[in-house]
Amino acid sequence: MNGRVAVVTGGTGAIGTEICKHLGAAGARVVAVCLPGTPDCVPDAWEAARQRDGYQMKVYGCDLADFEQTAAVFARIEQDIGPVDILVNAAGITRDATLRKMTPDQWRAVIAANLDSVYSTTRCVFGGMMDRGFGRIINISSVNGQKGQFGQANYAASKAGIHGFTMSIAREGARKGVTANTVSPGYIESPMIMAVPEEHRAKIMAEIPVGRFGRPEEIGRVVAFLAAEESGFITGADISVNGGQHMG
Ligand code: CAA
Repeated sequence: MNGRVAVVTGGTGAIGTEICKHLGAAGARVVAVCLPGTPDCVPDAWEAARQRDGYQMKVYGCDLADFEQTAAVFARIEQDIGPVDILVNAAGITRDATLRKMTPDQWRAVIAANLDSVYSTTRCVFGGMMDRGFGRIINISSVNGQKGQFGQANYAASKAGIHGFTMSIAREGARKGVTANTVSPGYIESPMIMAVPEEHRAKIMAEIPVGRFGRPEEIGRVVAFLAAEESGFITGADISVNGGQHMG
């Protein structure tokens, strides 16, 4: 990936950090984007930790639910670091509730953070990638976007929407060297999973043939594989990484 510029949204989270490290190890210049004011978004500490890992990575704060703000941050990244070659959309939130209780705010917050953000970031970089003849878009969806989940109508809708988006832009970018793929993690060890009440988590674990939750690095390596120069014939795919929880 010799110096390719990679932007990872949600890049300072559990899965995002592993994605950044795998792209960095493969030779990309990596930028992480996170939402200011959230527990995962502590730029100085995160940059220092990556330095201890042997990487120079910068963090930019941005509310990806806001298109204008996103466009301004991406313009700054291009100015500071260079044109974006690899975009990984890993930012995501949950606001779990059964539909009879789900408020319009819970619905809108999840669609804005998980799906509007993917439109906004990709819109910022896609034209440039096509003009330069190279690009890799990797969108992090979820097993629950593929199969649905009790209490996650908002989240599952956003994650299923991501793959429809991916397949469409895969067609638009195909002749111009720009691939777009979805990665659908299952339940991965992270604060998001730990926020699920223990009784529900135990039931979910029982549905996973491999018998454990996934590890963030197991997503990182798939993303780095898709981002590689040599992966140009993989586009419009949805790669499941879920321990066999959902097959098909
Ligand atoms: N399956 C079937 N029934 C369930 C159920 C389930 N998973 N969970 C709750 N119920 C039932 C209860 O037994 C109860 O039934 P009765 O009314 O007959 O007693 C009823 O539903 C309760 O309904 P409520 O609306 O009151 O539900 P609640 O408020 O107690 O809980 C919830 C709803 C918060 C969504 C809870 O079910 C939950 O946390 N579920 C887990 C959701 C989940 O898996 N989230 C994943 C987060 S991680 C992630 O998203 C990452 C990724 O990509 C994989």
